[in-house]
Amino acid sequence: MRVLVTGGAGFIGANFVLRTVEQRPDVEITVLDKLTYAANPATLAPVADRITLVEGDVADAAVVDRLVAATDLVVHFAAESHNDNSLADPSAFVHTNLVGTYTLLESVRRHGTRYHHISTDEVYGDLELDDPARFTESTPYNPSSPYSSTKAGSDLLVRAWVRSFGIHATLSNCSNNYGPYQHVEKFIPRQITNVLSGLRPKLYGAGTNVRDWIHVDDHNDAVWTIIERGTVGETYLIGADGETDNKTVVESILTVLGEPADAYDHVTDRPGHDMRYAIDSTRLRTELGWAPRYVDFTAGLTATIDWYRENVDWWRPYKDGVESGYAKTEKVLG
Ligand code: NAD
Ligand code: DAU
Repeated sequence: MRVLVTGGAGFIGANFVLRTVEQRPDVEITVLDKLTYAANPATLAPVADRITLVEGDVADAAVVDRLVAATDLVVHFAAESHNDNSLADPSAFVHTNLVGTYTLLESVRRHGTRYHHISTDEVYGDLELDDPARFTESTPYNPSSPYSSTKAGSDLLVRAWVRSFGIHATLSNCSNNYGPYQHVEKFIPRQITNVLSGLRPKLYGAGTNVRDWIHVDDHNDAVWTIIERGTVGETYLIGADGETDNKTVVESILTVLGEPADAYDHVTDRPGHDMRYAIDSTRLRTELGWAPRYVDFTAGLTATIDWYRENVDWWRPYKDGVESGYAKTEKVLG
Protein backbone atom coordinates (compact mmCIF):
# COMPACT_ATOMS: atom_id res chain seq x y z
CA MET A 1 0.00 0.00 0.00
CA ARG A 2 1.28 3.48 -0.93
CA VAL A 3 0.52 6.16 1.68
CA LEU A 4 1.00 9.91 1.34
CA VAL A 5 1.49 11.49 4.78
CA THR A 6 1.17 15.27 4.78
CA GLY A 7 2.90 17.05 7.66
CA GLY A 8 4.98 13.93 8.29
CA ALA A 9 7.94 15.92 9.64
CA GLY A 10 5.90 17.46 12.47
CA PHE A 11 5.08 15.99 15.87
CA ILE A 12 2.16 13.62 15.28
CA GLY A 13 2.85 12.97 11.59
CA ALA A 14 6.47 11.98 12.27
CA ASN A 15 5.44 9.65 15.09
CA PHE A 16 2.92 8.15 12.64
CA VAL A 17 5.65 7.63 10.03
CA LEU A 18 8.14 6.11 12.50
CA ARG A 19 5.55 3.73 13.94
CA THR A 20 4.23 2.75 10.52
CA VAL A 21 7.71 1.99 9.17
CA GLU A 22 8.37 -0.15 12.25
CA GLN A 23 5.08 -2.01 12.32
CA ARG A 24 3.91 -2.19 8.68
CA PRO A 25 6.72 -3.12 6.31
CA ASP A 26 4.17 -3.48 3.47
CA VAL A 27 3.43 0.28 3.56
CA GLU A 28 5.37 2.56 1.19
CA ILE A 29 5.45 6.08 2.65
CA THR A 30 5.83 9.44 0.94
CA VAL A 31 5.89 12.49 3.22
CA LEU A 32 4.80 15.87 1.86
CA ASP A 33 5.94 18.59 4.24
CA LYS A 34 6.70 22.29 3.81
CA LEU A 35 9.35 21.99 6.54
CA THR A 36 8.09 25.05 8.38
CA TYR A 37 9.51 26.14 11.75
CA ALA A 38 7.42 23.30 13.29
CA ALA A 39 9.17 20.51 11.39
CA ASN A 40 12.31 18.88 12.66
CA PRO A 41 13.89 16.84 9.84
CA ALA A 42 16.11 15.09 12.44
CA THR A 43 13.04 13.14 13.55
CA LEU A 44 12.82 11.28 10.24
CA ALA A 45 16.60 10.81 9.81
CA PRO A 46 16.57 7.20 11.14
CA VAL A 47 14.07 6.16 8.43
CA ALA A 48 15.42 8.37 5.62
CA ASP A 49 16.23 5.37 3.42
CA ARG A 50 12.80 3.77 4.00
CA ILE A 51 10.59 6.73 2.99
CA THR A 52 10.43 9.47 0.36
CA LEU A 53 10.43 13.00 1.75
CA VAL A 54 9.09 15.72 -0.56
CA GLU A 55 9.51 19.31 0.59
CA GLY A 56 6.40 21.14 -0.61
CA ASP A 57 3.19 22.94 0.25
CA VAL A 58 -0.16 21.16 0.59
CA ALA A 59 -1.69 24.21 -1.09
CA ASP A 60 0.47 23.71 -4.21
CA ALA A 61 -1.97 21.96 -6.55
CA ALA A 62 0.68 20.73 -9.00
CA VAL A 63 2.84 19.03 -6.36
CA VAL A 64 -0.20 17.63 -4.56
CA ASP A 65 -1.73 16.22 -7.73
CA ARG A 66 1.49 14.52 -8.79
CA LEU A 67 1.80 12.81 -5.40
CA VAL A 68 -1.88 11.93 -5.00
CA ALA A 69 -1.89 10.34 -8.47
CA ALA A 70 0.75 7.89 -7.20
CA THR A 71 -0.82 6.93 -3.86
CA ASP A 72 -3.54 4.67 -2.48
CA LEU A 73 -4.23 6.63 0.70
CA VAL A 74 -3.69 10.20 1.92
CA VAL A 75 -3.37 10.83 5.68
CA HIS A 76 -3.56 14.59 6.13
CA PHE A 77 -1.72 15.80 9.25
CA ALA A 78 -0.21 19.00 7.81
CA ALA A 79 -1.45 22.12 9.55
CA GLU A 80 -0.45 25.24 11.33
CA SER A 81 -1.13 23.84 14.78
CA HIS A 82 -0.35 26.35 17.54
CA ASN A 83 -3.12 28.53 19.01
CA ASP A 84 -0.75 31.23 20.27
CA ASN A 85 0.73 31.69 16.78
CA SER A 86 -2.76 31.92 15.28
CA LEU A 87 -3.54 34.80 17.63
CA ALA A 88 -0.37 36.64 16.59
CA ASP A 89 -0.89 36.12 12.82
CA PRO A 90 -3.70 33.97 11.42
CA SER A 91 -2.71 34.19 7.72
CA ALA A 92 -0.69 30.95 7.50
CA PHE A 93 -3.55 29.15 9.27
CA VAL A 94 -6.03 30.16 6.58
CA HIS A 95 -3.56 29.20 3.85
CA THR A 96 -2.51 25.78 5.12
CA ASN A 97 -5.53 24.59 7.07
CA LEU A 98 -8.20 25.79 4.65
CA VAL A 99 -6.60 26.24 1.20
CA GLY A 100 -4.27 23.28 1.78
CA THR A 101 -7.14 20.97 2.70
CA TYR A 102 -9.21 22.22 -0.24
CA THR A 103 -6.28 21.49 -2.58
CA LEU A 104 -5.95 17.92 -1.29
CA LEU A 105 -9.69 17.32 -1.51
CA GLU A 106 -9.85 18.39 -5.13
CA SER A 107 -6.98 16.04 -5.92
CA VAL A 108 -8.40 12.99 -4.11
CA ARG A 109 -11.73 13.70 -5.82
CA ARG A 110 -10.02 13.66 -9.23
CA HIS A 111 -8.13 10.42 -8.52
CA GLY A 112 -10.70 8.57 -6.36
CA THR A 113 -8.13 8.21 -3.58
CA ARG A 114 -8.95 7.15 0.00
CA TYR A 115 -8.42 10.10 2.38
CA HIS A 116 -8.18 10.37 6.17
CA HIS A 117 -8.50 13.81 7.73
CA ILE A 118 -6.74 14.55 11.04
CA SER A 119 -8.51 17.10 13.19
CA THR A 120 -8.92 18.32 16.72
CA ASP A 121 -11.43 18.42 19.57
CA GLU A 122 -11.03 22.21 19.56
CA VAL A 123 -13.59 22.45 16.74
CA TYR A 124 -16.26 21.94 19.43
CA GLY A 125 -15.21 24.98 21.48
CA ASP A 126 -14.85 24.47 25.22
CA LEU A 127 -16.75 23.16 28.24
CA GLU A 128 -17.18 24.62 31.71
CA LEU A 129 -15.13 22.99 34.48
CA ASP A 130 -18.26 21.75 36.29
CA ASP A 131 -20.10 20.58 33.15
CA PRO A 132 -20.47 16.76 33.25
CA ALA A 133 -20.71 16.75 29.42
CA ARG A 134 -17.96 15.55 27.10
CA PHE A 135 -17.65 16.08 23.33
CA THR A 136 -19.24 13.45 21.09
CA GLU A 137 -19.49 13.09 17.32
CA SER A 138 -22.78 15.04 17.41
CA THR A 139 -21.58 18.04 19.47
CA PRO A 140 -22.17 21.24 17.43
CA TYR A 141 -19.09 23.03 16.09
CA ASN A 142 -18.21 26.18 18.06
CA PRO A 143 -14.49 26.97 17.59
CA SER A 144 -12.85 29.83 19.51
CA SER A 145 -9.49 30.70 17.95
CA PRO A 146 -8.19 31.33 14.44
CA TYR A 147 -6.47 27.92 14.68
CA SER A 148 -9.56 26.00 15.74
CA SER A 149 -11.85 27.86 13.34
CA THR A 150 -9.63 27.01 10.37
CA LYS A 151 -9.54 23.36 11.51
CA ALA A 152 -13.34 23.43 11.84
CA GLY A 153 -13.59 24.90 8.34
CA SER A 154 -11.33 22.18 6.97
CA ASP A 155 -13.53 19.48 8.57
CA LEU A 156 -16.61 21.03 6.99
CA LEU A 157 -14.92 21.04 3.58
CA VAL A 158 -14.22 17.30 3.97
CA ARG A 159 -17.84 16.59 4.95
CA ALA A 160 -19.11 18.61 1.98
CA TRP A 161 -16.76 16.80 -0.44
CA VAL A 162 -18.05 13.46 0.93
CA ARG A 163 -21.69 14.42 0.46
CA SER A 164 -21.44 16.41 -2.76
CA PHE A 165 -18.74 14.50 -4.62
CA GLY A 166 -18.69 11.11 -2.89
CA ILE A 167 -15.00 11.15 -1.94
CA HIS A 168 -13.87 8.21 0.23
CA ALA A 169 -12.96 10.07 3.40
CA THR A 170 -12.98 9.48 7.15
CA LEU A 171 -12.33 12.11 9.82
CA SER A 172 -10.95 11.98 13.34
CA ASN A 173 -10.97 14.64 16.05
CA CYS A 174 -8.44 14.02 18.80
CA SER A 175 -7.65 15.67 22.12
CA ASN A 176 -4.28 17.06 23.28
CA ASN A 177 -1.35 14.81 22.36
CA TYR A 178 1.88 14.39 24.30
CA GLY A 179 4.97 12.27 23.72
CA PRO A 180 8.37 12.40 22.01
CA TYR A 181 9.27 14.81 19.18
CA GLN A 182 6.74 17.52 20.15
CA HIS A 183 7.87 21.08 19.40
CA VAL A 184 9.07 23.05 22.44
CA GLU A 185 6.48 25.78 21.80
CA LYS A 186 3.76 23.43 23.12
CA PHE A 187 2.79 23.29 26.80
CA ILE A 188 4.32 20.03 28.04
CA PRO A 189 7.64 20.15 26.13
CA ARG A 190 7.98 23.87 26.92
CA GLN A 191 7.75 23.26 30.64
CA ILE A 192 10.03 20.16 30.61
CA THR A 193 12.70 21.98 28.59
CA ASN A 194 12.34 25.11 30.75
CA VAL A 195 13.25 23.09 33.82
CA LEU A 196 16.06 21.31 31.95
CA SER A 197 17.36 24.76 30.86
CA GLY A 198 17.23 26.27 34.35
CA LEU A 199 14.12 28.38 33.53
CA ARG A 200 10.88 28.47 35.50
CA PRO A 201 7.80 26.85 33.90
CA LYS A 202 5.17 29.32 32.68
CA LEU A 203 1.52 28.74 33.48
CA TYR A 204 -1.08 30.82 31.64
CA GLY A 205 -3.39 32.59 34.10
CA ALA A 206 -4.53 30.56 37.09
CA GLY A 207 -3.80 27.25 35.34
CA THR A 208 -7.22 25.76 36.04
CA ASN A 209 -7.82 25.04 32.33
CA VAL A 210 -8.26 21.34 31.62
CA ARG A 211 -6.90 19.38 28.65
CA ASP A 212 -7.70 15.73 27.87
CA TRP A 213 -4.22 14.24 27.36
CA ILE A 214 -3.55 11.27 25.07
CA HIS A 215 -0.23 9.70 24.13
CA VAL A 216 0.68 10.29 20.49
CA ASP A 217 1.06 6.53 19.85
CA ASP A 218 -2.50 5.93 21.03
CA HIS A 219 -3.69 8.67 18.66
CA ASN A 220 -1.82 7.15 15.72
CA ASP A 221 -3.02 3.60 16.48
CA ALA A 222 -6.56 4.98 16.46
CA VAL A 223 -5.93 6.60 13.08
CA TRP A 224 -4.88 3.26 11.58
CA THR A 225 -7.94 1.63 13.20
CA ILE A 226 -10.23 4.17 11.54
CA ILE A 227 -8.49 3.83 8.17
CA GLU A 228 -8.86 0.04 8.28
CA ARG A 229 -12.22 -0.40 10.00
CA GLY A 230 -14.00 2.97 9.89
CA THR A 231 -17.02 3.74 7.73
CA VAL A 232 -16.36 6.12 4.85
CA GLY A 233 -18.00 9.50 5.43
CA GLU A 234 -17.95 9.15 9.21
CA THR A 235 -16.22 11.03 12.03
CA TYR A 236 -14.61 9.38 15.08
CA LEU A 237 -13.51 11.12 18.26
CA ILE A 238 -10.20 9.97 19.75
CA GLY A 239 -9.51 10.39 23.47
CA ALA A 240 -8.03 8.44 26.37
CA ASP A 241 -9.88 9.84 29.43
CA GLY A 242 -6.86 11.98 30.33
CA GLU A 243 -8.50 15.12 31.73
CA THR A 244 -5.95 17.04 33.85
CA ASP A 245 -5.66 20.74 34.73
CA ASN A 246 -2.58 22.64 33.61
CA LYS A 247 -1.45 23.44 37.17
CA THR A 248 -1.34 19.73 38.01
CA VAL A 249 0.68 19.00 34.85
CA VAL A 250 3.28 21.67 35.66
CA GLU A 251 3.55 20.50 39.26
CA SER A 252 3.98 16.87 38.11
CA ILE A 253 6.77 17.86 35.70
CA LEU A 254 8.62 19.75 38.45
CA THR A 255 8.22 16.87 40.88
CA VAL A 256 9.46 14.24 38.40
CA LEU A 257 12.47 16.46 37.67
CA GLY A 258 13.27 16.75 41.39
CA GLU A 259 12.31 20.44 41.77
CA PRO A 260 9.89 22.02 44.27
CA ALA A 261 6.33 21.65 42.93
CA ASP A 262 5.68 25.41 43.25
CA ALA A 263 8.79 26.59 41.35
CA TYR A 264 6.83 28.05 38.40
CA ASP A 265 5.45 31.44 37.27
CA HIS A 266 1.89 32.44 36.48
CA VAL A 267 2.04 34.52 33.29
CA THR A 268 -0.32 36.51 31.04
CA ASP A 269 -3.30 34.39 30.06
CA ARG A 270 -4.01 33.44 26.44
CA PRO A 271 -6.77 35.68 24.97
CA GLY A 272 -10.00 33.70 24.57
CA HIS A 273 -8.37 30.75 26.38
CA ASP A 274 -10.58 27.65 26.12
CA MET A 275 -11.40 26.36 29.61
CA ARG A 276 -11.86 22.63 29.20
CA TYR A 277 -11.79 19.91 26.54
CA ALA A 278 -13.12 16.40 27.19
CA ILE A 279 -13.65 13.59 24.70
CA ASP A 280 -16.16 10.76 24.80
CA SER A 281 -14.55 8.13 22.55
CA THR A 282 -17.27 5.49 23.05
CA ARG A 283 -17.98 5.22 19.34
CA LEU A 284 -14.37 4.43 18.41
CA ARG A 285 -14.09 1.92 21.25
CA THR A 286 -17.38 0.08 20.75
CA GLU A 287 -17.75 0.18 16.95
CA LEU A 288 -14.10 -0.23 15.96
CA GLY A 289 -12.61 -1.94 19.03
CA TRP A 290 -9.83 0.61 19.73
CA ALA A 291 -8.54 1.17 23.26
CA PRO A 292 -5.65 3.34 24.49
CA ARG A 293 -2.53 1.63 25.87
CA TYR A 294 -1.25 4.63 27.85
CA VAL A 295 -3.92 4.68 30.54
CA ASP A 296 -1.67 6.09 33.28
CA PHE A 297 -0.98 9.74 32.36
CA THR A 298 1.72 10.18 35.02
CA ALA A 299 3.63 7.17 33.67
CA GLY A 300 3.35 8.47 30.08
CA LEU A 301 4.41 11.95 31.20
CA THR A 302 7.43 10.54 33.07
CA ALA A 303 8.51 8.59 29.96
CA THR A 304 8.14 11.79 27.91
CA ILE A 305 10.24 13.75 30.42
CA ASP A 306 12.91 11.04 30.16
CA TRP A 307 12.81 11.36 26.36
CA TYR A 308 13.46 15.14 26.49
CA ARG A 309 16.23 14.57 29.06
CA GLU A 310 17.90 12.06 26.75
CA ASN A 311 17.41 13.99 23.49
CA VAL A 312 18.68 17.49 24.26
CA ASP A 313 20.31 17.74 20.81
CA TRP A 314 16.87 17.33 19.20
CA TRP A 315 15.24 20.30 20.97
CA ARG A 316 18.07 22.62 22.03
CA PRO A 317 18.40 24.41 18.62
CA TYR A 318 14.74 25.50 18.84
CA LYS A 319 14.55 26.54 22.49
CA ASP A 320 16.01 30.07 22.58
CA GLY A 321 13.99 31.26 19.58
CA VAL A 322 10.73 29.98 21.11
CA GLU A 323 11.41 31.59 24.48
CA SER A 324 12.38 34.94 22.98
CA GLY A 325 9.12 34.86 20.98
CA TYR A 326 7.06 34.22 24.12
CA ALA A 327 8.99 36.91 26.03
CA LYS A 328 7.66 39.61 23.65
CA THR A 329 4.12 39.32 25.05
CA GLU A 330 4.36 37.28 28.24
CA LYS A 331 4.48 39.03 31.64
CA VAL A 332 4.93 37.27 34.97
CA LEU A 333 1.82 37.95 37.09
CA GLY A 334 2.42 39.38 40.56
P1 NAD B 1 3.02 20.26 14.11
O1 NAD B 1 2.92 21.75 14.08
O2 NAD B 1 3.98 19.62 15.04
O3 NAD B 1 3.39 19.73 12.65
C1 NAD B 1 2.77 20.23 11.51
C2 NAD B 1 3.59 19.80 10.29
O4 NAD B 1 2.90 20.30 9.11
C3 NAD B 1 5.00 20.39 10.26
O5 NAD B 1 5.92 19.38 9.90
C4 NAD B 1 4.93 21.47 9.19
O6 NAD B 1 6.16 21.69 8.51
C5 NAD B 1 3.87 20.90 8.26
N1 NAD B 1 3.21 21.94 7.46
C6 NAD B 1 2.72 23.14 7.91
N2 NAD B 1 2.22 23.84 6.86
C7 NAD B 1 2.37 23.07 5.76
C8 NAD B 1 2.03 23.24 4.39
N3 NAD B 1 1.43 24.36 3.94
N4 NAD B 1 2.31 22.23 3.54
C9 NAD B 1 2.93 21.10 3.98
N5 NAD B 1 3.29 20.89 5.25
C10 NAD B 1 3.01 21.86 6.13
O7 NAD B 1 1.55 19.72 14.34
P2 NAD B 1 1.03 18.43 15.14
O8 NAD B 1 0.87 18.79 16.55
O9 NAD B 1 1.86 17.28 14.74
O10 NAD B 1 -0.44 18.30 14.51
C11 NAD B 1 -0.65 17.49 13.36
C12 NAD B 1 -2.13 17.47 13.05
O11 NAD B 1 -2.84 16.96 14.15
C13 NAD B 1 -2.74 18.85 12.77
O12 NAD B 1 -3.67 18.72 11.74
C14 NAD B 1 -3.41 19.22 14.08
O13 NAD B 1 -4.49 20.10 13.86
C15 NAD B 1 -3.87 17.86 14.55
N6 NAD B 1 -4.05 17.68 15.99
C16 NAD B 1 -3.04 18.01 16.84
C17 NAD B 1 -3.18 17.74 18.21
C18 NAD B 1 -2.07 18.04 19.19
O14 NAD B 1 -2.28 17.90 20.39
N7 NAD B 1 -0.88 18.44 18.76
C19 NAD B 1 -4.38 17.19 18.68
C20 NAD B 1 -5.41 16.89 17.78
C21 NAD B 1 -5.21 17.13 16.42
O1 DAU C 1 -6.97 19.83 21.84
C1 DAU C 1 -6.16 19.54 20.75
C2 DAU C 1 -5.21 20.71 20.48
O2 DAU C 1 -4.23 20.68 21.52
C3 DAU C 1 -4.56 20.65 19.12
O3 DAU C 1 -5.55 20.81 18.14
C4 DAU C 1 -3.51 21.75 18.96
O4 DAU C 1 -2.84 21.61 17.72
C5 DAU C 1 -2.51 21.62 20.08
O5 DAU C 1 -1.56 22.67 20.02
C6 DAU C 1 -3.23 21.65 21.43
O6 DAU C 1 -3.83 22.96 21.66
P1 DAU C 1 -3.72 23.69 23.10
O7 DAU C 1 -3.86 25.13 22.88
O8 DAU C 1 -4.59 23.00 24.08
O9 DAU C 1 -2.19 23.28 23.45
P2 DAU C 1 -0.95 24.09 24.08
O10 DAU C 1 0.15 23.09 24.23
O11 DAU C 1 -0.66 25.34 23.36
O12 DAU C 1 -1.51 24.48 25.53
C7 DAU C 1 -2.05 23.50 26.40
C8 DAU C 1 -2.60 24.24 27.62
O13 DAU C 1 -1.51 24.81 28.36
C9 DAU C 1 -3.51 25.41 27.27
O14 DAU C 1 -4.53 25.51 28.26
C10 DAU C 1 -2.59 26.63 27.35
C11 DAU C 1 -1.63 26.25 28.45
N1 DAU C 1 -0.25 26.78 28.35
C12 DAU C 1 0.40 26.67 27.17
C13 DAU C 1 1.71 27.09 27.05
C14 DAU C 1 2.46 27.00 25.74
C15 DAU C 1 0.37 27.29 29.48
O15 DAU C 1 -0.23 27.37 30.57
N2 DAU C 1 1.67 27.70 29.37
C16 DAU C 1 2.37 27.63 28.21
O16 DAU C 1 3.55 28.03 28.18
